[in-house]
Amino acid sequence: MKKNKILVVGNWKMNPENVSSALTIFKDIKKETKALKNTQVVICPPYVYLSDLEKVNSGLASSAVILGAQDMFWEKSGSYTGEISGGMLSGEGYVILGHSERRELGETDEVVAKKVSSASKVGLKTILCIGEKERDLHGDYLHFLRGQIINSLGKLPKRFLTKIIIAYEPLWAIGKGEEEAMKPGDIYETSIFIKKVLTEIYDQKVAITVPIIYGGSVNHNNAREMIISGQIQGLLVGRESLNARKFGELLKNVD
Ligand code: PGA
Repeated sequence: MKKNKILVVGNWKMNPENVSSALTIFKDIKKETKALKNTQVVICPPYVYLSDLEKVNSGLASSAVILGAQDMFWEKSGSYTGEISGGMLSGEGYVILGHSERRELGETDEVVAKKVSSASKVGLKTILCIGEKERDLHGDYLHFLRGQIINSLGKLPKRFLTKIIIAYEPLWAIGKGEEEAMKPGDIYETSIFIKKVLTEIYDQKVAITVPIIYGGSVNHNNAREMIISGQIQGLLVGRESLNARKFGELLKNVD
């Protein structure tokens, strides 16, 4: 990612239901990205669609889109049924790790940290997801977030921090209506807090350079304001990234 570009990541999750729909949506998104100047788009489809989409991506002009994965395993190879290694993905530029939906299935900070370390070593850029389940008035969620950042990064050496993007996704704001998305002012405050924690673990330079992106009910109406008033470096978009027309609108608004 060029330093000054806004990063918009589309997380397709377990969608769409077949490869031909995936190809259609992807081609339509590519068209929408042609005129973008200031935005880097990353689309993270299910693993099995990656190579088909990659062929389309390299075949069509406009390089505003990069493909990424939604997860990976930390070992290089071996008897790990159902898993995929970072090396197997290294044609892809980005990998989402520690998404709340994976954490809900039992993935711990320690597991996420092993994946982050392994992804960094093979040269993938990690979109590390963090976020609290709920906000309380006493600020306990801040302790939770702090712990999640520290433990999910594990003891990742400072040199790898150039490959880390922190995706702040409060669970209470994911998959909701537009009005339930986080307010830009709160996004801003939380991003400052995340930078404080990064300063505590590493230093200020790291804290300044690690991009922070927001996810949770982002759409074409609220995206621009989140970037401007939230003062963040990008967005992680779920549902809206599966609708090429609306996602295209979002991208233009952000750009
Ligand atoms: P949403 O999902 O945009 O549909 O709320 C975001 C996410 O889970 O990454």
